[in-house]
Amino acid sequence: MSARRIDGKGIAEALRARIADGVAAFRETVGRPPGLAVVLVGEDPASSVYVRSKGKATGAAGMRSVEHRLADSVSEAELLALIGELNRDPGIDGILVQLPLPGQIDEQRVIAAIDPAKDVDGFHVENAGRLAVGGEALVPCTPLGCLHLLKAELGDLTGKDAVVIGRSNIVGKPMALLLLAESCTVTIAHSRTRDLPELCRRADILVAAVGRAEMVRGAWVKPGAVVIDVGINRIAGGDGKGRLVGDVAFDEVAEVAAAITPVPGGVGPMTIAMLLRNTLVAAHRREGLEEPRL
Ligand code: GUN
Repeated sequence: MSARRIDGKGIAEALRARIADGVAAFRETVGRPPGLAVVLVGEDPASSVYVRSKGKATGAAGMRSVEHRLADSVSEAELLALIGELNRDPGIDGILVQLPLPGQIDEQRVIAAIDPAKDVDGFHVENAGRLAVGGEALVPCTPLGCLHLLKAELGDLTGKDAVVIGRSNIVGKPMALLLLAESCTVTIAHSRTRDLPELCRRADILVAAVGRAEMVRGAWVKPGAVVIDVGINRIAGGDGKGRLVGDVAFDEVAEVAAAITPVPGGVGPMTIAMLLRNTLVAAHRREGLEEPRL
């Protein structure tokens, strides 16, 4: 292995320490903690794990964490009523509805019901639009975390050739917009892209967010590139338990790249740190305070 291993866990811890300082200052000024409400519908085990770790991190940063667990059978009207209550609650600065939602509920309608000022996931069209045209957006946590890692590794990104594999609203599209705002030359690749390996070989920055285990191979990567792996895929392991791998064949790519994020311990911890950041930023904006630079 010649690549540097980008320490997302360590970088996220440092960021969380700065956020905790910002939370303490906010409490001092406003007389209450920033509040984050997380809504979980149903019993999906992966979602339950995410929601629990979000709650723990929120409390550890000194924020107020409120969890709402609703039955799998809940109606869309009941969920929308809860969101209305949280929108009106002055002690709640951030609302996160864990996705996916059960089939009887229209996800877009639910996201549209969240007050954009409390939309700490950055999924509301108003925030997506502001990210696209410029302005005070709340930006989706995972691409924001990836950008933070890239800046920690490379400093100024101006003029870099960036390829983002994946065009989801949650990762691929906002990632591309963030890189464009940093003056990168950005290409978004997806399942219908022709000659993906050749395209990837041109990238100084390669972000993989496709959800296919170890798809990006060593031969796809330009020597000296920085590779960010957003994937979390469970594959069968020798011990029958399975293990987590990313969208990048780590050992192969580490022979070629200048730097690469591991899975786990790369992008994952950054996503939660950015959720806390967005909650703190939303709290400052709602109180009309100058927001902390994080
Ligand atoms: N499900 C998987 N990732 C996410 C995320 O970032 N936010 C929400 N709300 N749900 C998710």
